[in-house]
Amino acid sequence: MSLQGRRILLIVGGGIAAYKCLELIRRLRDRGCAVRTVATKAATEFVTPLSLASLSEDKVYTELFSLTDESEMGHIRLSREADLIVVAPATADLMARMAAGMANDLASTVLLATDKPVLIAPSMNVQMWQHAATQANRATLAARGITIVGPAAGDLACGEVGSGRLVEVPELIQAIETALSPRPLAGRTALVTSGPTWEPIDPVRLIANRSSGKQGHAIAAALARAGAAVTLVSGPTAEPDPVGVTVQRIETAAEMLAACQQALPVDIAVFAAAVADWRADTVSTQKLKKGGEPPTLTFAPNPDILATIAQHPTSRPRLVIGFAAETEAVVEQATAKRLRKGCDWILANDVGLGTGTFGGDANTIHLIDADGAEAWPRLAKVEVATRLVDRIIAALA
Ligand code: C5P
Repeated sequence: MSLQGRRILLIVGGGIAAYKCLELIRRLRDRGCAVRTVATKAATEFVTPLSLASLSEDKVYTELFSLTDESEMGHIRLSREADLIVVAPATADLMARMAAGMANDLASTVLLATDKPVLIAPSMNVQMWQHAATQANRATLAARGITIVGPAAGDLACGEVGSGRLVEVPELIQAIETALSPRPLAGRTALVTSGPTWEPIDPVRLIANRSSGKQGHAIAAALARAGAAVTLVSGPTAEPDPVGVTVQRIETAAEMLAACQQALPVDIAVFAAAVADWRADTVSTQKLKKGGEPPTLTFAPNPDILATIAQHPTSRPRLVIGFAAETEAVVEQATAKRLRKGCDWILANDVGLGTGTFGGDANTIHLIDADGAEAWPRLAKVEVATRLVDRIIAALA
């Protein structure tokens, strides 16, 4: 892909790997990119503003409160007049400030004010990278749609060995090219279901389940980031609405089915909701009273939303993806389920007691398609979403 004429705002963090930025600027300039740099105060301890300015052939911005900069180019303009913001090296401190939404220097303020895509290349000591705080920040930033490249493993400047090296310049350039590529699902439509359903018994009581909606919401967000127009039909969850997604909130399975049917036609449909299999046969209009014999509930089956849409006579989406939450013989059960429901792929996960999948942040998936089963490592739900969307992009290419 040509980078000719593209505008990169490079934010240099204060780490030993900052020296690699000089090479990065050179290579980007060779490719015809305009590079403007912001350096944190700590960055200027590692590379001089003069080097950055000479290579980028532009002024280097370091101060939030500089009268000349603010009159020539305020931090808002700085954050918007770029096609992509690249943070390299992204230090533990800068990542923490980004995750917390701080704006206490020019770099963090630009990152908070921008409406442009952001790519960060972390680099730090291995212990700092593996620290729970940094990993939580990494997950937060990834969930917000920030692209994270690296770190690579190897010898570190501090003398330790492990994950923490800034990725090499060619890899960074490749990631920049990908980030600037057209969004692969632009022009596609998608439907995602998420969360539990609530089936009323009477005006105050209901049947529910432990689904958090984390996986479905993450998939909706990842599809939207890839450019798809996404409708998310969600049962009651505490998850915030994903950015750029049309959200329809429903309670019962019947309402979920109706909302899904209304969203058709779509190219992609992902059914991540934990739909109640049964609802109370009759819903009492008055609160059931205590005293005497306890009431006996009788149930009626709920519609199978996935099977209904997968076998839709006129508007079957091109790619229909279901989930299978199992507690035993996960792959066998899910393989049979794929055929029974008529969907293209099933993402099977073990939700047995002690797996922590229901309501938790991580998931272990087996992807089952017509060719068989593929085991994925245990991943954060946001990473499951990204990986699934990469698969969807490949399947529709
Ligand atoms: O049959 P089972 O509930 O195990 O199937 C799980 C898959 O089917 C999930 O993708 C779930 O969202 C979907 N499903 C549905 N409607 C139902 C039951 C399950 O869409 N009534």
